[in-house]
Amino acid sequence: MKDKKGPDPRIDLDQVPRHVAIIMDGNGRWAKRNGKPRSKGHEAGAREVREITEACLELGVSALSLFAFSTENWRRSKQEIDSLFNLMTKSIKRYSDQINKINVRLLHTGVLDGLPDEVVQDIQKCVERTRNNTAMDVCIAMNYGGRRELTDATRKIATQVQAGAMRPEDITEDVIAANLYLPGHAEVDLLIRTSGENRISNFMLWQISYAEIIVTPTLWPDFSPTSLYDAIVEYQSRSRRFGGRP
Ligand code: IPE
Ligand code: IPE
Ligand code: MG
Repeated sequence: MKDKKGPDPRIDLDQVPRHVAIIMDGNGRWAKRNGKPRSKGHEAGAREVREITEACLELGVSALSLFAFSTENWRRSKQEIDSLFNLMTKSIKRYSDQINKINVRLLHTGVLDGLPDEVVQDIQKCVERTRNNTAMDVCIAMNYGGRRELTDATRKIATQVQAGAMRPEDITEDVIAANLYLPGHAEVDLLIRTSGENRISNFMLWQISYAEIIVTPTLWPDFSPTSLYDAIVEYQSRSRRFGGRP
């Protein structure tokens, strides 16, 4: 629809990325800059999630993936990990009501094993409660690692080969994609990393192979809908060639 008005006139609503993934980084630095403990940075970061979800929905994004806790984040102090999980259970309960009202479906990617029972239950309840919602998917990456996901997919495929259900030569890119944590989940079009770090930190290694990457110096708790619109404007200025010719 050409006359559809979006929240930012710079954005072409016919060219909005289908799948936006965000590495939500910089909570600790935000806290330090504001003279607060790290836990306050995580709280401020958790508050941003709702606004960005609503902004993506309004733009017509189909899927939003959010990196919340990596398989490497277990290397942090027990105190920080405990405070993160406490915050997660509180936030998921609140978030569940909010996203359910706006017809958003929650998905989880990563490994639930090893997470505290309460976190697992809250995620599962929210996934179950929102499973028939259709406006947009939000995929929360919790205890997620891209290498771990590919390792787990390889094991599943090897088991099928060993059982005689598949031959090695039947293993295609589609077979690998079908054995990831969320088969059928679209590839990432736009990957945003906040806080200025120019790295992937083991996020969605398979799914980002042709994502446009935007690194912004903005720390996650300061990342606003306007920051998102700026990223989408830049995304729309890029020429996506996928190895071909423009
Ligand atoms: C991102 O913020 C949140 C998680 C990784 C859980 P950080 O805690 O990594 O913040 P910085 O990088 O120390 O600023
Ligand atoms: C990536 O941030 C993980 C999340 C945002 C959940 P990190 O802060 O853990 O990444 P590194 O350690 O700087 O690469
Ligand atoms: Mg960090």
